[in-house]
Amino acid sequence: MENSGTIRIGNENFDFPIIEGIEGERALDTRTLRAKSGCITFDEGYGNTGSCLSEISFINGEKGILRHRGYPIEQLAEHSSFLETAYLVIYGQLPTADKLAAFCAEVRNHSSIHTGMRHHFEGFPSNAHPMAILSSMLNSLGAYYPEMSSNNREQDLAHFDESAALLISKVRTIAAMTFRMKQGLPFVFPDHSRRYAENFLHMMFSEPYNDYQDTSGASNALDLFLLLHADHEQNCSTSTVRMVASGGANLFASVSAGVCALWGPSHGGANMAVIKMLEEIHAAGDDGSRFIKDAKEGKAKLMGFGHRVYKNYDPRAKILGKSSERVLEGLGINDPLLDIAKHLERAALEDEYFVKRKLYPNVDFYSGILLKAIGIPVEMFTVMFAIGRMPGWIANWKEIAENSKSRIHRPRQVYTGSAIRDYLKVDER
Ligand code: SDX
Repeated sequence: MENSGTIRIGNENFDFPIIEGIEGERALDTRTLRAKSGCITFDEGYGNTGSCLSEISFINGEKGILRHRGYPIEQLAEHSSFLETAYLVIYGQLPTADKLAAFCAEVRNHSSIHTGMRHHFEGFPSNAHPMAILSSMLNSLGAYYPEMSSNNREQDLAHFDESAALLISKVRTIAAMTFRMKQGLPFVFPDHSRRYAENFLHMMFSEPYNDYQDTSGASNALDLFLLLHADHEQNCSTSTVRMVASGGANLFASVSAGVCALWGPSHGGANMAVIKMLEEIHAAGDDGSRFIKDAKEGKAKLMGFGHRVYKNYDPRAKILGKSSERVLEGLGINDPLLDIAKHLERAALEDEYFVKRKLYPNVDFYSGILLKAIGIPVEMFTVMFAIGRMPGWIANWKEIAENSKSRIHRPRQVYTGSAIRDYLKVDER
């Protein structure tokens, strides 16, 4: 049959329905595979496994397409804002002007954190990694809103709109406070007259009698950076959020887990690793050729390159590449790292090793150059990714929480350990 597939195991055939997505992608529905055949699938890294049906984002990795609720990322990048795209990702449609104004007001009204939370910062060593601070602060944020973090889905959903706006707002405040604490600087109160990204830069960089002034378009560039990170299907951190949500955990605990997953250098930590790689290349007086040689010999990864899904150019990388150039021009900065990055990109895209493996620049390749130009310290880069990804994590939590049929995520395994089986018969005692 056209809409079914057959798996032959031994001498038996097992038929399974095929689920077809809106964009024509097809999935073999193997939810009855073990019951029918006694077999499970094995797909380390889940490269061939769909964990859910989702209406939020769509990626065509072969063609380099990314859409949020059907809208192409290029159009959102050109015409939308981070908060409007956040609303779209979370609620499924672009807001009317009134709804957007109400959403922005709700986010603005939640800009401050409970004074009790300020003391948490005193407990962290000044060299604590910002991602460690962020994940713990987001989870403890739930303690201040027990009515939204009850782990009773009906109750948590009843408070969803407020907890979503609250998290989008306070993740930014906590990030800025983390930076100030680590610098030994006093916290800066949010300024409700400023838009989302500019308010963040104000909380990061304003000083008494010297308020941060955005004279170079940095806040627009940051807003674009955040928009481009809003969601990205079932990546490592979003899948983690869904995994935690699937057990019934509240939104705060789930996004806190997402922060931990994002931290790794293969995922969101790559934006920090790219800048460190470019700085090493610059310090060595190399143009990147030696680094490419090491990458080809498996001695290093070309950070910011490659992707599990994109086997074409990551559309976000293209946009960020142009945006970082514009910001550097606007600031009158001639950053040698940008030239090295562009050389690396050209060299890799012409090199058989990368061409054969379809390795292209991903979202992290240029984002660090943009953040560095805005004045964000490198160790805060992955925190910036988390701020941008917050709407996507929230939307995915909501999709699980609202689905009364959603099941706890509990993969199977193939056991390859010891077969001793008898405690008393262990010879080497
Ligand atoms: C993000 O999933 C998402 O959507 C993530 C993300 C999001 O928005 O949430 O897009 C954000 O995490 C982007 C990726 C950021 N990470 C990096 O830039 C780190 C560098 N990239 C690699 O670590 C790697 O490309 C991954 C982790 C991104 C993808 O790894 P895969 O899919 O497991 O690919 P693989 O390791 O199986 O690689 C296939 C081949 C291997 O060579 P062979 O074994 O075939 O000889 O390609 C090689 C790899 O060694 N390869 C690289 C490489 N990436 C893959 N070689 C050199 N440099 C690289 N960057």
